Order: sequence, then structure tokens, then C-alpha cells
Amino acid sequence: MVSISAESARHPEYSTDLHGSLEEQHGPVIALTGVSFSYPDGRRALDNVNLVVRAREKVALVGPNGAGKSTLLLHLNGILRGRGAVAIMGNELGDGNLGLVRSQVGMVFQHPDDQLFSPTVFEDVAFGPLHMNLDDDEVHRRVSWALAQVGMEGFENRMPHHLSLGEKKRIAIATVLAMQPAILALDEPSGELDPRARRGLIRLLGSLPQTMLVATHDMRLVDELLPRTVVLDGGRVVADGPTQSILSDTVLLDRHGLEPP
Ligand SMILES: Nc1ncnc2c1ncn2[C@@H]1O[C@H](COP(=O)(O)OP(=O)(O)O)[C@@H](O)[C@H]1O
Ligand SMILES: [Mg+2]
Repeated sequence: MVSISAESARHPEYSTDLHGSLEEQHGPVIALTGVSFSYPDGRRALDNVNLVVRAREKVALVGPNGAGKSTLLLHLNGILRGRGAVAIMGNELGDGNLGLVRSQVGMVFQHPDDQLFSPTVFEDVAFGPLHMNLDDDEVHRRVSWALAQVGMEGFENRMPHHLSLGEKKRIAIATVLAMQPAILALDEPSGELDPRARRGLIRLLGSLPQTMLVATHDMRLVDELLPRTVVLDGGRVVADGPTQSILSDTVLLDRHGLEPP
């Protein structure tokens, strides 16, 4: 079993294109202003969230179970829409630009079964590129490249629902990488991975040029990979600052059910 490798992450066209488009981007790439959301049963999951993330920042979203981390991520591409405003790359999300925003925000769900639905790994990873109207050669190139990024080359003809959970998680990440989005929103990406795959994931995410918002309980991943940390509790942002200051604030961590790495 190969581990997720970062060796080929420096895909020349990939980083050039992405860096080019990010450098043209002035101002925040993610901006949430006064976002509140309640589920249909009335449970309030986000309460007046304000959050600005700039190009190429790698940000951790931490907090106890039920804090609202997944709910917040699902707002980034309009899967959930509450009160307040969400802007991606300067465009306020609305009915007219959901397609555009979904091509800019690569969403990796916590449960890969929510992401993988095709009979083969190839078709799952090719799905996004095919819907970007890329030609067949480019689709094949992107699928091979994305699978290599997550250490799953050679899995093209496997059936996703027969893979282990850790393998499925890596394929789910590949489906998003294949679209080369400017922003990655990852929900518990290291959960269920064995130590080698987890180490490879950290290397891979560290080498990617994208702006990242990562919801996680893995405080070692936060410590090693994500220079900024946002603490969410009860749907509210209760802290936002440099990871090293947040991780050394044992009172804050304890108060919000977190532990230092
Ligand atoms: N589909 C849903 N219907 C009703 N309540 C939900 C639903 N999904 C999440 N919640 C509730 O919303 C709150 C935030 O959940 P979630 O965003 O999943 O938190 P986290 O990802 O931080 O664990 C929790 O109280 C949770 O029980
Ligand atoms: Mg969650």
C-alpha cells in the first residue's frame, strides 16, 4: 500500500495557473458576515459567524462535537444557506452563482460515502473534470494526477464501495483535487487514516497551494499544518488567532473541550 505522496504535488501547470489566479485575487477569498443558521427542527447551529480567510491561508476549524464546524463548511458552497452573507473570491453567494462557487470551493465531506457514487474510482474522480467540459485527454490526465497525489494510482477500475474507509477518504480527496479548485474545505480529513496515510495526507495538504479551511479534531494535524486556528463552540466563533497561541492557551482549550496535541 502506497501512502499519500506529496512528491508530485508540484504539478507545473497546476501551481502556475492557481498561483496566477490567486495573485490576481485581492481581498478575502472567503468572507462570512453575520452568518446564522438553524436546521429545520429549530436547532441553531451557527450564531452570527464572522470569518475572513485570505488567499493561501491554511486555517483550522476546531471545537467540540456539535459546535457547527460541518454546518459552517457546508455554507461555503451553498449546500446550506442561512442568514447573513457568504462571499467567495469576492462574489456574494446567491442563486445566480452557485455553479461558479462550487467550482471554486472543493468540498471534501467527512463521510466519503456522501462523495463517492460511481461504479468505478475512475468515474468518481473524472466526474468533476467532465462537468468542466475538459477534453478526454485532459480528464484522463487529471484523474491520473489526482490519484497519484493521494497515493492511489492504479485504483482506477476498483469499485469505490469495496474500498476501506481510509482508501475511500483518499479517493474523495482526489475527486476534489481533480477539479483544481482555488479553495479546499475539508471535514475531518485525517479521521480513519492509518499513521502512514495520515502522515502522507499532512505532507500533501502542506504542499498544495490552495486556501484551506479544515474542520478537525486532530490537534497534531492542526499543529503541524495549519498556522491559524478558529475555535467554534455553540455555533459561535470563540477564538481566532495563530495556532501556536491557541494551542498554548490551556484554559481556552479546556473550556471548549479541546486538548493540546
Ligand atoms: N441535519 C441536521 N438536522 C438537525 N440538526 C443538525 C443536523 N446536522 C447537525 N445538526 C445539529 O447542528 C449542530 C451543529 O452540528 P455540526 O455542524 O455537525 O457540528 P460539528 O461538525 O462541529 O460536530 C449540532 O447541534 C447538531 O446536532
Ligand atoms: Mg462535523
